[in-house]
Amino acid sequence: MNMNMYMNMSMKTPRSRALGMHLILVLVSCLLASQVLLAHEGVLSPTQESPKQESATPWGGDYFPNTLLTDQDGQQVRFFDDLIKDKVVVINFIFTTCSDSCPLETARLRQVQKLLGDRVGQDIFFYSISIDPLSDTPEVLKAYAQRFKVGPGWKFLTGEFADVTELRKKLGLFIEGVDNGRNKDHNLSLIVGNQTTGRWMKASPFENPWILADQLANTLQNWKKPSTGESYANAPEIRPPSNGEELFRTRCASCHSLGPMDGQGLGMRSIGPDLIGVTRQRDPAWLNRWIREPDIMLKEKDPIAMDLFERYDKISMPNLRLDEKSAQSIMQFLQEETDRQQPLQAVQAQ
Ligand code: HEC
Repeated sequence: MNMNMYMNMSMKTPRSRALGMHLILVLVSCLLASQVLLAHEGVLSPTQESPKQESATPWGGDYFPNTLLTDQDGQQVRFFDDLIKDKVVVINFIFTTCSDSCPLETARLRQVQKLLGDRVGQDIFFYSISIDPLSDTPEVLKAYAQRFKVGPGWKFLTGEFADVTELRKKLGLFIEGVDNGRNKDHNLSLIVGNQTTGRWMKASPFENPWILADQLANTLQNWKKPSTGESYANAPEIRPPSNGEELFRTRCASCHSLGPMDGQGLGMRSIGPDLIGVTRQRDPAWLNRWIREPDIMLKEKDPIAMDLFERYDKISMPNLRLDEKSAQSIMQFLQEETDRQQPLQAVQAQ
C-alpha cells in the first residue's frame, strides 16, 4: 500500500460532529491542498506490504532513517528514535532565508501550536527541518524560532544535506527536478502523522489552523484524549467568502489580524501589523504593490517598507506571488471590513 492510498483512507475516516460546520472550510482547504497533493507522488513505499494487524505499521524503524540531526540548542538527536517513534508529529521542511512559503507555514504552525497549548511537547511534537544546512546553523535556527516566538515542543533541526534529502524523499516531500536545495520554488511541504498507528497525512499550510489542530489533538490520537480546551465555537464564522476574503484568510490571516475583535481570543496573529484601516492610510498603488512584492520594495529601500520592517522585529512580509487582480480583491475586502468595523461617520466624529 502506498502513501496516497493510506492518505485517502485517512481522509474518509469520519470526523467529529463538531467539524460538520467546517465542511465548507475543509472543502476549500482541500481544493488548495489538492494542488499541493497533486504535486506530490506518494513515495512512502513500505518494506512490508499490507500489515496483518491494525496496530502494526509498515512505517517503522526499518522504513524511516535514523538520521542524525542537530536542534536549535545544539543537541543531537536521531530522527526515528528521538523524534518520531511512538509520537504524533508535525514535520515540515524550511530554510530560513526563504521569503515566500516558509514564513507562511511557520506562522500557521505557530497558530496551531497556540491552539494546542501545552500538549505540544507532551504528546504532540513539531519539527521544522532545514533543507539549507549550510546557512541554517543551530544558531541561525534558534534566532528564527525566537523571531516567530515559537513555544516549547517545537524543534528546528539541521543535518547533512544528503541525509535531509533522503528524509524528504522517505516522507514523500521531495519533488525531483523542482527541489534542489536552494531552489526558490521550495514546495509547500508539511506532513502530520502518528508513527504508532502508521497514519500519515500531507497537509496544506493554508489549512484552517483549527482543522490542523483537531487532526493532531484528536483524529491522529485516535480520540484517546479529550480535545484541547479550544472550542470550535471560537473558529471563524462561516459565511460564503468573497474571493478577497478567501485569499486573506488563507494567505494573510496567519500573520495579520483585522481589527481588535479578530485575535480569536488567542492573541495569535501578531506577527505583522493589524490591517484594519490600512486601505485608508496607504496609497492604493503602494498597497497593491506591497501585497505583491514586499521583498522587492524592501530591497529598493522604500521608506515605508523600511520603517515597517524595523518595527516588526525584522520579520519580513513574504512574497506570496499574488497577481495584481488578487491584490486588488484583497484590498477590496480590507476596505469593506474597515467600513464595516469603523463606519466613516464614526471616524470623522472622533
Ligand atoms: C509570515 C507572515 C506574514 C504573512 C503571511 C503576510 N504578512 Fe503582511 N506583513 C508581515 C510583516 C512582518 C509586516 C511588517 C513589515 C515587514 O516587516 O515586512 C507586514 C506588513 C504588511 C502591510 C503593511 C501595513 C502598513 O501599515 O502599511 C500590509 C498592508 C500587509 N502586510 C498585508 C498583507 C497581506 C494582504 C497579506 C496576504 C496576502 C499578508 N500581508 C501576508 C507579515 C506577513
